[in-house]
Amino acid sequence: MTINHQEIELIDSFEQISVDIHPDAKEGSKAVAREIAALIREKQAAKEPAVLGLATGSTPKYLYAELVRLHKEEGLSFKNVVTFNLDEYYPIEPDALQSYNRFMKEHLFNHIDIPAENCNVPDGTVPKEIKAYAEAYERKIEAAGGIDIQILGIGNNGHIGFNEPGSNVNSHTRLVTLDNSTRLANAYEFSNMSQVPRLAITTGIGTIMKAKKVILLAWGQHKAKIVRRSVEGSSTDQARLPAPAAP
Ligand code: F6R
Repeated sequence: MTINHQEIELIDSFEQISVDIHPDAKEGSKAVAREIAALIREKQAAKEPAVLGLATGSTPKYLYAELVRLHKEEGLSFKNVVTFNLDEYYPIEPDALQSYNRFMKEHLFNHIDIPAENCNVPDGTVPKEIKAYAEAYERKIEAAGGIDIQILGIGNNGHIGFNEPGSNVNSHTRLVTLDNSTRLANAYEFSNMSQVPRLAITTGIGTIMKAKKVILLAWGQHKAKIVRRSVEGSSTDQARLPAPAAP
């Protein structure tokens, strides 16, 4: 059998993660909010829960603002929505200024009609032996039917959730040590660098990869470099970065 060069190129072609480019963060966030709203309405019609995986940080702020607007101005109900957040600092009180539990209430949960018991954010106050808690978090995601849409941001070093470069592709919810570069990047939220926790609870790359759809948001020029590395990087590089492991 003779195979021509074109066929070899097709066989060897590298499938990249699909990338949508938007004029700005607001437009991009609106497009993602529309997709989430369509899922919620579709699940409402089927009398099923819509399960969302959510992130914190500056990246999803416009998305949450748009979901709140859809609720207030266009009557989008979140009564059938169940959410699971990616991560939380450890240890931290849920009402601390930097807590991701607090962030989610301030940016989303307090402004929509989602039942409080449907909102799951890792608890930064659980005793340090968190294995049972972490396993229960994973089981709760499964019991809800698995995540329909997982929203992610990406750190400048390629971390997703608090899965730092080198995290295992099969990792699950666990206690992790934050990279110094991540602590430095997040130091602006704290009064000084020494106040930034050294640990965090995060769902794993394996947890994220189980989601039916993953949407990673990255806005602005400063994120372009890490997005390029994640999408177009060499396989060696990809093995070290958590981000490209996401489907
Ligand atoms: C937070 C999270 C992190 C952030 C990342 C980017 O829940 O998952 O991985 O997405 O640190 O942060 P921002 O959006 O502030 O640039």
